[in-house]
Amino acid sequence: MEVQILGSAQSAAKQNNALVIKTAEATARVWIYSPTVIRVSISKNTGVSDTSFAVIQKPEGSIDSKENSDHIEVTTSALKLSIQKSPLRFNFYTADGKELSQDDSRFGVNWQGTRVINYRKLYKDERFIGLGEKTGDLDRRGSSYTNWNSDVPDHNPKSDPLYETFPFFVGMHGGLTYGLFFDNTHKSYFDFGATTDHQMSWFGADAGDMNYYFFGAQNVADIIKDYTWLTGRMEMPPLWTLGYQQCRWSYMSAQEILDIAKTFRDHNIPADVMYCDIDYMDHYKIFTWNHETFPDPKSFIDKLKSMGFRLVTIVDPGIKVEPGYKQYDEGVAKNYFATYPNGEKFIGEVWPGRCHFPDFFRDDVRKWWGASFTALTEPGVEGFWNDMNEPAAWGQNIPWMVKFGNYYMPEIRNVYGMEMARATHEGTKKILGNKRPFVLTRAAYSGTQRYSAVWTGDNSAYDAHMLLGQRMVNSLGITGMSLVGVDIGGFSGDPTPELMVRWNSLGVYTPMFRNHAMQGTKMREPWRWGEANEKIIKKDIEQRYKLLPYLYSSFYQSHQTGLPVSRTLAINYTQDTMVYNPTYQNQFLFGDGLLVAPVISTEHTASVYLPKGEWYRISSGEHYEGGKAYTVDAPLNDLPVFAKGGAIVPMQNIIQNTNEKGDGILEVNVWYGKEASKFVYYEDDGSSYDYEHGTYHKREISFDPANKRIKFGVISGLLTSKYTKIKLVLHQFQSNISGNVRTVSVNGEIKALSGDVVMFDNTNSAITVAYH
Ligand code: GLC
Repeated sequence: MEVQILGSAQSAAKQNNALVIKTAEATARVWIYSPTVIRVSISKNTGVSDTSFAVIQKPEGSIDSKENSDHIEVTTSALKLSIQKSPLRFNFYTADGKELSQDDSRFGVNWQGTRVINYRKLYKDERFIGLGEKTGDLDRRGSSYTNWNSDVPDHNPKSDPLYETFPFFVGMHGGLTYGLFFDNTHKSYFDFGATTDHQMSWFGADAGDMNYYFFGAQNVADIIKDYTWLTGRMEMPPLWTLGYQQCRWSYMSAQEILDIAKTFRDHNIPADVMYCDIDYMDHYKIFTWNHETFPDPKSFIDKLKSMGFRLVTIVDPGIKVEPGYKQYDEGVAKNYFATYPNGEKFIGEVWPGRCHFPDFFRDDVRKWWGASFTALTEPGVEGFWNDMNEPAAWGQNIPWMVKFGNYYMPEIRNVYGMEMARATHEGTKKILGNKRPFVLTRAAYSGTQRYSAVWTGDNSAYDAHMLLGQRMVNSLGITGMSLVGVDIGGFSGDPTPELMVRWNSLGVYTPMFRNHAMQGTKMREPWRWGEANEKIIKKDIEQRYKLLPYLYSSFYQSHQTGLPVSRTLAINYTQDTMVYNPTYQNQFLFGDGLLVAPVISTEHTASVYLPKGEWYRISSGEHYEGGKAYTVDAPLNDLPVFAKGGAIVPMQNIIQNTNEKGDGILEVNVWYGKEASKFVYYEDDGSSYDYEHGTYHKREISFDPANKRIKFGVISGLLTSKYTKIKLVLHQFQSNISGNVRTVSVNGEIKALSGDVVMFDNTNSAITVAYH
């Protein structure tokens, strides 16, 4: 395959809202989406179709550019794109002229056959983070990756590709940051200086256009905000999905699930969700129930509900070829399945045997699929687990000539899972009316956060997988996915009791907290590990429930800004090289105020790096000066978790599931800090869409050490909080301010401090707490 060059600009003209540049070989178009987001699309095709599965924004109406003999300059208030005419190259700068990212001056964009590649200049100190669910290190410099959604049951900490495609990364060098989203759904490749002469990084795809969005905000959080502005943000999750989730392939009968649910209640271990994996179905036929083992789905789910549990059921895309089976008959009659070019339906084998695959790229098929969920919603299912949607088929390959909508398989394999999740989300949302559905998908593409949560697929029960899982959760957070889980305990293999305990304690700080295991493995429920371990697991799950007000508010932040709940330290401490050190790269912030350091199960001490600032171990209150590494105790019952100085963490009492009201006391924990801080507290009914119409309860809580004040701002929203009292807990204030804190006043009224705690009514008006 010869290399075909992009050539030199022969003409440049504004057309509608784009700048169109033509070379003898290709056409390049530039659009401004916002002052910090510029799109470049280079194509050899004429009459380029301009569809995107990911992007939900439109470009701005005009483009500001000027041209001289060598260059065309496109400017916004934040960015300058300098386009060199000969040969055609695209070079990005900040508005004040700092170089952010350039084409490699020699090679830029070129083609080999249908393959399109962009070679870019690699900076000496450049680091890369992103690409979502990928193995390897936090800093992806020196690594290369492929995006080709695949079912990878035996993956290891180096395997690639995996199940999901997020072709978005952040580059950092010389104190500067930029982001790049390559919106091309073909099999794609990213090489962060792995295989070149240290002068280039490159990315490309098997076919399609060199179509990318360049982000120029000067910090990672703002780049994530821009990326999720462009590709969408998550809805508020149902509150129950943030509780503890118990899954297994498979609980084999309704009775077994009820027994497990009851055991949670008997042992007073909080839990919210039970799952049905594939064996609840009749011969794995989607939208059916096995009537022998699940004879009366409605009364089964009613019983679960009466114990405070929700049920999530699995659905796979493969529809069994079996005349007389409703979904098969309907799909055949309406031609809803993927076909060969001659119109014959494609058949691949999955759990049910020979299957057809719904064409989720068609509107009518998505509607049909979505409406079929009544078979599950009528008896009371509220969560829909979309699996095997890479799509998986035994033997993996699906012939390239298989057609989905107007596309052939190679073009849309990476989006199939997302479109299935979309069909599921849209369909169940319609059926459930004002109730929020929960969708969980294994395969995904950029934008999936609009429809679904994801988990990281079939991991294994060993320590390195636990750490890898955490890095993947953190990395998915960079690419817009906040509601993310891993199979706690490891899907395949049997964890040691120590690993189970440790992984569960990390699960407390995983956005979606789900224990799941493969058939044939040891049972995994909390009481299977001996009394002493059960006690630790229970205490940790209780901690999760106590954190729910904080966690829910953190999800509100994801919903509003795209910032994830689990944040690699690279988001807040981008320029601190220690956060990329392999020893510390798994650490993350959980919400604004807590730092979690994962520890393997065989170690009972941990090397922890605490970035600049002040930190307190939450279990002991011990103070640590940031900007240093420490060796800290990490026994199995005490995962190292630190509160940032000034952290504001609203908590509640222990409840057994999220239907319980609790004691009505919101426990607002503040850790002393030298700097002012704030936290947006958010609450809504946790289940409906009324929050979209103003029914929520939101206020800013701020801490001002200079004036010795903690303020609860006025409420916005129409909802009255479910907490009638606020219990304010001041951590480490005594030792940090001169003289002891002995009294506080709440709106001017002096109150005695009992220990570090003061209690007052949760009123809708502003509340000022002054400590003396
Ligand atoms: C796939 C899923 C796994 C599930 C199994 C059976 O391997 O990744 O979570 O339990 O299929 O449905």
